[in-house]
Amino acid sequence: MDPSAFFTGTAVHLVAGKGGVGRTTLTAALGTAAARLGLEVLLVEIEDWGGLAARFGGRALGYEETVLADRIRGRSLRAEDCLVEYLCGHGLGRLTGPMIDSGLVEVITRGTPGIKDILLLGKIRQLEQSRCADVILVDTPASGHALSFLRSPQGLLDAVGNGPVHDQAVAALHLLQDAARCQVLLVTTLEETPVNETIETAFRLEDEIGVHLGPVLVNGVLARTPRRGPDPSDPSDTDRSGAVDRWIREAGIDAALAHAVQRASAFARRRRDAQRRQVLRLAEQLPLPRLEVAHRPGAGPGPDDLDELAEELLDGLRAC
Ligand SMILES: Nc1ncnc2c1ncn2[C@@H]1O[C@H](COP(=O)(O)OP(=O)(O)O)[C@@H](O)[C@H]1O
Ligand SMILES: [Mg+2]
Repeated sequence: MDPSAFFTGTAVHLVAGKGGVGRTTLTAALGTAAARLGLEVLLVEIEDWGGLAARFGGRALGYEETVLADRIRGRSLRAEDCLVEYLCGHGLGRLTGPMIDSGLVEVITRGTPGIKDILLLGKIRQLEQSRCADVILVDTPASGHALSFLRSPQGLLDAVGNGPVHDQAVAALHLLQDAARCQVLLVTTLEETPVNETIETAFRLEDEIGVHLGPVLVNGVLARTPRRGPDPSDPSDTDRSGAVDRWIREAGIDAALAHAVQRASAFARRRRDAQRRQVLRLAEQLPLPRLEVAHRPGAGPGPDDLDELAEELLDGLRAC
């Protein structure tokens, strides 16, 4: 797949997944990858403050755009701000002051089921239509939330007969169901629960919303899956344990240290085997291309790692 075509083939990429799997990190890495291709990127954080900007070494994002890096801007969307902007845009600006002061804005956005999500989706749609960037990447709420977030237009359509909320819901649904305008990129790590949740979320997103799914982003990979596909009988780990034994013999270390090295190596091998079983399950149960991103040892990827993560994603896209 041509990476530029991947990024520009869809206006909005919604990055979704279970909490902690690496959505924010990979949103930043995808943005860096697109910018390296010469594209103008807008990163959007939803009701979250600081995570995305921190990946670039910056301070928390606000509702207004901030420059995060060359060709990369970011902003954080809150439903309250979207409602105020919506009212101002519809000639109701004079109402917003008293509404904010009385706490009514918060009551409306937090208290009415689905309204918060429809306001956020409305803003994303407005960003898409304004063509403010070549690529818009949205770091969405965690998986369960992502599902309810993306199902809110249908839910509101079922509940509201007509009027502005109905119109907003129809428009949001049109955005979600148009593959040229929007796609979801699911992020997972290779553990039992995130893989289960990814498979279930993928089917529900397609069946219940009709949203297009792009490649699955597989994060924290310890040993790359061979290009030809996962092979459970891959002998590479056996080779590796043979190499450890050889190294121990040649290094001439004492028995206690040799034992510790062997235990550590066996532990690492079990973790790689466990991941291999999960990638096999993912490949069998979810017919989507995968982009793998290697596990980074230490405290997690920082701003200096973004170029490397971006390069890995670009390599993966070229091979897709
Ligand atoms: N490839 C990786 N290797 C090692 N640590 C990672 C990797 N990707 C993310 N992390 C770490 O995992 C944690 C969760 O990542 P984050 O992007 O914040 O997830 P999410 O946004 O899905 O909650 C963070 O501490 C992050 O630094
Ligand atoms: Mg996050």
